[in-house]
Amino acid sequence: MTVWDGPVVDKFGRVHRDLRISLTDKCNLRCSYCMPPEGLPWLAKENLLTTDEIERVASVLARLGFVEIRLTGGEPLLRRDIVDVVARLSRIEGPEGPLRISMTTNGIRLDRVMDQLKEAGLQRLNISLDTVNPARFAELTRREKFEDVLAGIQAARDSGLRPLKINAVAMRGVNDDEFCDLLRFAQEHEAQLRFIEQMPLDAGHIWSRVTMVQGHEILEKLQAEFTLEPVGERGSSPAEVFTVDGGPTTVGVIASVTAPFCGACDRVRLTADGQLRNCLFAREESDLLTLLRSGGSDEDIAAMLRATISGKRAGHGIDDPGFLQPDRPMSAIGG
Ligand code: 5AD
Ligand code: SF4
Repeated sequence: MTVWDGPVVDKFGRVHRDLRISLTDKCNLRCSYCMPPEGLPWLAKENLLTTDEIERVASVLARLGFVEIRLTGGEPLLRRDIVDVVARLSRIEGPEGPLRISMTTNGIRLDRVMDQLKEAGLQRLNISLDTVNPARFAELTRREKFEDVLAGIQAARDSGLRPLKINAVAMRGVNDDEFCDLLRFAQEHEAQLRFIEQMPLDAGHIWSRVTMVQGHEILEKLQAEFTLEPVGERGSSPAEVFTVDGGPTTVGVIASVTAPFCGACDRVRLTADGQLRNCLFAREESDLLTLLRSGGSDEDIAAMLRATISGKRAGHGIDDPGFLQPDRPMSAIGG
């Protein structure tokens, strides 16, 4: 039995095949639930994984049965060589053919690189948009970039990459009066909208159950104007999906807090500074960066991944009395 044999499985039998890589902790927005206005102390440039290092890690994981890589941030399009990253990763052969590459972005600058990303092999896009009201967008993100996001969504629509998803974090008193508008907007842009329950991942540690809008409330608000029918099984997808007015449009609700999908989790995360995390809410990280830069072999990388996964807890434990919010905010961990 070598480190290459058998799937990457944890103590609960969950097989891991999905890697999320944060390409940068920086962002060109300052969403108030995520970052303070002045930004955060950014990671030092020399500690960011190089594209060669990312490619190497991905190749090792592909050999271990991984089939999918999602690129996140911060804002992944801020990475200068983003097209090259996508091109190199999408050439890596996994057990089911080339790795599937997807990206979660805020959409800014997407119109400028969409064609190149598609050409490079990008397969799917999730665009984050919490409001379709321009003034509210400016207030929430502290930047006048609404038009840029719209241009990005338009470019994504024109690219033909499907399914195109739009993610909206549901927030009481912020956007809970426009869930139906968001759904109509997504429908018009041929996108599948997914509402996300807000998780305790904000840099300011101000999350509270009171401001979090629960999944069932989101559905109730949508049902005032739309007919929703549940579709199929969830699989490892975190979203519960519904057809809208008979389809083909669908809407999803990701109830990460009230109905956690941890039992089906097949993900592992790699931060921009090369730390492996077995969960968004993990307390520990494995220092892959140091391993890579001290001459670690592919076997060493594989062994570190297996060890990280074998230490994965059953769930995020947000409801446990001893729950501790991770030290790092979402922007540094990767969404
Ligand atoms: N809870 C849920 N989703 C969040 N996101 C950022 N912070 C949180 C949070 N605390 C979302 C972003 C984006 C994706 C990367 O994660 O809005 O859609
Ligand atoms: Fe998996 Fe952690 Fe996400 Fe739960 S919160 S689904 S354990 S990564």
